[in-house]
Amino acid sequence: MKRERFSNIGYVMAAAGSAVGLGNIWKFPTLAGQNGGGVFILCYLVFVLVLGIPLLLGEATIGRHAQAGPTDAYRNIAIACGQGKTATKFWTFLGFTGALANLFVLSFYSVIAGWILQYCFKVFTTPIGTMDMALFGGSISTPVTPTIFALIFVAVTVMIDVKGIEGGLEKAAKVLMPLLIILLIICAVCSLSLKGGIEGVKFMVVPNMEYVKAAGGLGAVALAAMGQCFFSLSLGVGQIITFGSYLKKNSNLLTETYAIPALDTGVALLAGLVTLPAVFAVSTITGIDPASQTGPGMLMYALPQSLNVAFGPAFGTILAFLMFLLVVFAALTSTCAMLTVSVSYINEFKKVDRKKATIGVGIAVAIGATICSLSNTDILGSILIGGRNIQDTLDWLVNTLIMPFGAFFMCIFIGYVWKTDNAIKEITNEGKLTFSWQKMFKILMTVVDPLIILIVFLSGIGIVKF
Ligand code: TRP
Repeated sequence: MKRERFSNIGYVMAAAGSAVGLGNIWKFPTLAGQNGGGVFILCYLVFVLVLGIPLLLGEATIGRHAQAGPTDAYRNIAIACGQGKTATKFWTFLGFTGALANLFVLSFYSVIAGWILQYCFKVFTTPIGTMDMALFGGSISTPVTPTIFALIFVAVTVMIDVKGIEGGLEKAAKVLMPLLIILLIICAVCSLSLKGGIEGVKFMVVPNMEYVKAAGGLGAVALAAMGQCFFSLSLGVGQIITFGSYLKKNSNLLTETYAIPALDTGVALLAGLVTLPAVFAVSTITGIDPASQTGPGMLMYALPQSLNVAFGPAFGTILAFLMFLLVVFAALTSTCAMLTVSVSYINEFKKVDRKKATIGVGIAVAIGATICSLSNTDILGSILIGGRNIQDTLDWLVNTLIMPFGAFFMCIFIGYVWKTDNAIKEITNEGKLTFSWQKMFKILMTVVDPLIILIVFLSGIGIVKF
């Protein structure tokens, strides 16, 4: 079967579309708020540099070399490198964990996207100046409406993939992504100009160990930052391997790889500047401790509040609507990419027809999303696993376990199975391109990155203490 081909810009758009999503706009500010601001953001930036960039490059390289999705890619390279039966089984399993992770993420991600979709309408029925956390809490804890919005979102994702119009989506992203960034900049300026907003910036840039202590210590904060780095760049779950497999052999893996983390981190920081200053500013007015207001959903009041003050209720409403709509769109480019990974697994590995596989996975996601949505209500809310409801458990499972697991073994795979020299050959198109930091890449892949992942993981779950 001949594989479709990405043009270089097509690859960057698809990977950027996958990377930029709720992870940047919803999750990054939330996690920064919950994990001590400055220290979290500093850890995050360091992880993007030392883990994010090399791992992105590593995954794309595996995919382009194997010209196959994650499961086949790991298996074929393992066999070609003379791995035994059991070892090959393990590497194939690694591909499978990625497909599973994508399914999990799709389930809870669609619920959050559904909440934002719901807010696209809510801004017209509720004065944006009165939108607060209580409104958000109330609107997600009813069983019917949020579930319907989540299912609408799942249906749209499946429809786009079934019709094979992801290409169209990428074309639309070329216009809508810059628009999202422009609007984020406008909103950030609004938030920063609010009285007390500067406190939010201080919170983001000044490391404060008191906040870190309150968040459970440095290990917990670092683990949250590492998980977020993987989540935001869609790493450790076969996503980038899949995209890499659609690249032409003579493409330039290096230049393309830098664009993605740059864009992704820029959008995350911007979203932080939209949300956190607004939260702090509102707190100055209401006198409520901002720390108690930094949680999931703060975007849903920070954004309308700051637009309301800056532009007044009429124009502010239109901007809030546009903003939420663009966020839904950014989420859609991410979910379409996730669905592709799970579908490719079933299609290529289990040899099920693509359309059938897409619909099958879609049904599984619809069930998963319904369960997640109901876990925020009385119906399933009493089921707690380690204090987390089902939706948060899935989120936690992916961020703290599956993604670090996938990323760790991806490094081991490149470092000790395929060997970094072979990876470098692929990256440089057999020596035709200059790869200025190849020595560094070797050290990172074989020693530093697996060690960082292991240490952060062990300290985050409390096994190693600093
Ligand atoms: N990176 C996306 C975001 O930040 C989410 C995402 C896309 C993802 N593909 C993924 C997360 C695969 C986990 C696994 O919104």
